[in-house]
Amino acid sequence: MDKLKLDAQARVLVLTGAGVSAESGVPTFRGMNGLWEGNRVEDVASPTGFRADPQLVWRFYSLRREAAAKVSPNPGHLALADLEQRLGERFLLATQNVDGLHARSGSRRMLAIHGELFQSRCERCNVPFADAQTYFAAPMPRCEKCQGAIRPHIVWFGETLDPAHLEQVDAFIEAAGEHLVFLAVGTSGLVYPAAGMVDASRAVGGTTWLIDAAPSDEYAARFDHVLRGRSGEILPALFGR
Ligand SMILES: NC(=O)c1ccc[n+]([C@@H]2O[C@H](COP(=O)([O-])OP(=O)(O)OC[C@H]3O[C@@H](n4cnc5c(N)ncnc54)[C@H](O)[C@@H]3O)[C@@H](O)[C@H]2O)c1
Ligand SMILES: [Zn+2]
Repeated sequence: MDKLKLDAQARVLVLTGAGVSAESGVPTFRGMNGLWEGNRVEDVASPTGFRADPQLVWRFYSLRREAAAKVSPNPGHLALADLEQRLGERFLLATQNVDGLHARSGSRRMLAIHGELFQSRCERCNVPFADAQTYFAAPMPRCEKCQGAIRPHIVWFGETLDPAHLEQVDAFIEAAGEHLVFLAVGTSGLVYPAAGMVDASRAVGGTTWLIDAAPSDEYAARFDHVLRGRSGEILPALFGR
């Protein structure tokens, strides 16, 4: 296995995807074949899907809240939290996962770029709040202030990411320059702009690593190092003291 050496100036940016939580028992989209109860995930996890059938969308996210509450972080999550402890502000984690497992394992320098499963917000007021409730039966939740519909705080298909998150990632990459070590872990590299972080990292002279159980040739070709396998096994070995 290629060895990851971090010198005193190294700055580590990590992008994680659904694969990091697979060993905790959270299915990836591919693991679900992109389908949920006969619906395409894209149709449920979208603003049009929510407008058409808010109860169906809330059922999908309520089931995911129930499932995520039952699982635990795995050694991959813990290795990343441990690395953050060692590097402090020379570390940044951008996760596409919404399951909350990074935070539960102690990650703090973390951006949940696709939103958070355990937060909701009013469609009109747009202020996210902690929410672990499930909503299966009508009436669907409404905002106490303005009666707007309450929706999951998730970045849906067709929606844009929080520009503040992207600015923080860009600033980290720029400040690191050739000292940047970029790792993409358990992500298929199909969803932009997250999929473009590897190219931005290479553009400043950074070193890039892909850790994935079954990476596509197209995505793998854009990395300096590719480690094939389970993140729960590879990450602890890679960062071992
Ligand atoms: N846990 C979650 O919060 C969760 C779960 C499913 C989907 N999503 C959403 O799905 C979208 C899809 O993008 P994505 O790239 O994150 O997921 P994806 O499902 O497209 O890809 C998952 C990747 O993980 C790899 N993988 C599977 N098991 C692994 C393991 N044990 N170790 C290492 N790699 C493993 C697969 O080979 C694949 O490349 C994202 O927007 C994300 O928000 C999130
Ligand atoms: Zn409101």
